[in-house]
Amino acid sequence: MDFNSNDFQSFVSSRRSTRDFLPTPVPDELIEQIISDGLTSPSWSNTRPILVAVAKGDVRDRLSKEFLTRWEAIKGARGSIFGKIKAVLKRKGLPTSNWIITRPYHKDLIKRSKNQGRDFLSHMGIERDDKKNRDKAWARNYEFFGAPVELFVFTHKSLGKYSASDAGLFMQNLILSAHSKGLGTCPQGAVAVWEDAVRKEFEISKNYSLLCGICLGYPSEEKINSFNANRPKPSEIMIPEKVRK
Ligand SMILES: Cc1cc2nc3c(=O)[nH]c(=O)nc-3n(C[C@H](O)[C@H](O)[C@H](O)COP(=O)(O)O)c2cc1C
Repeated sequence: MDFNSNDFQSFVSSRRSTRDFLPTPVPDELIEQIISDGLTSPSWSNTRPILVAVAKGDVRDRLSKEFLTRWEAIKGARGSIFGKIKAVLKRKGLPTSNWIITRPYHKDLIKRSKNQGRDFLSHMGIERDDKKNRDKAWARNYEFFGAPVELFVFTHKSLGKYSASDAGLFMQNLILSAHSKGLGTCPQGAVAVWEDAVRKEFEISKNYSLLCGICLGYPSEEKINSFNANRPKPSEIMIPEKVRK
């Protein structure tokens, strides 16, 4: 195959998460092509333990509305004990899945997450203590950042982390395929907290659980899309050999 690896390097590094989209629809054939490219990934014993629910049109709009309503009900609960009690009493908006998102990061990981938050807020000109605008920025997740398509990725429960690994490999191929076609994407853990709402719109076996969403569409020129998240150096994740005594 005639292939220049420098081209791959510049292509892969030019992908960034997109967080503002044009309303331009994405044709069904294109969505299917991108999913087909996703499926060129390796898979555990080729079992493909994943399902994808494609939300567009009325389904997309209904889910966005439902998520925004739940987010409105829960947003005050963060950081205040009274807010938490109120949320529990109201029972509206509490996560029905993926509780992991509500827990603090482990000390091994919190620094990178904090740096990401700081860099992002600074890029957007939002002060750290400006809760109103921070909440507004987060709420954009539930509008799918204006994307006309939201993909919900489900993984088979039986294979545990290998299902998640398969889904990750699939998603990255899909994301790069979209990028090659001028489309933007953003994986979204934010939408994984209300799996029950997604299940109301799609027939999904109980053997699968929601991993995350991915919004898909044509990127706008908004400033948010020029945010460049930090990329660690290889040495930051490479484990040194044990020193032999
Ligand atoms: C599984 C997963 C879930 C994510 N969830 C969200 C999310 O809910 N909202 C969001 O804005 N970004 C989300 N992201 C995007 C990450 O913040 C982003 O990939 C990271 O900061 C690196 O930036 P880049 O994708 O532009 O290289 C998620 C990424 C992954 C892989």
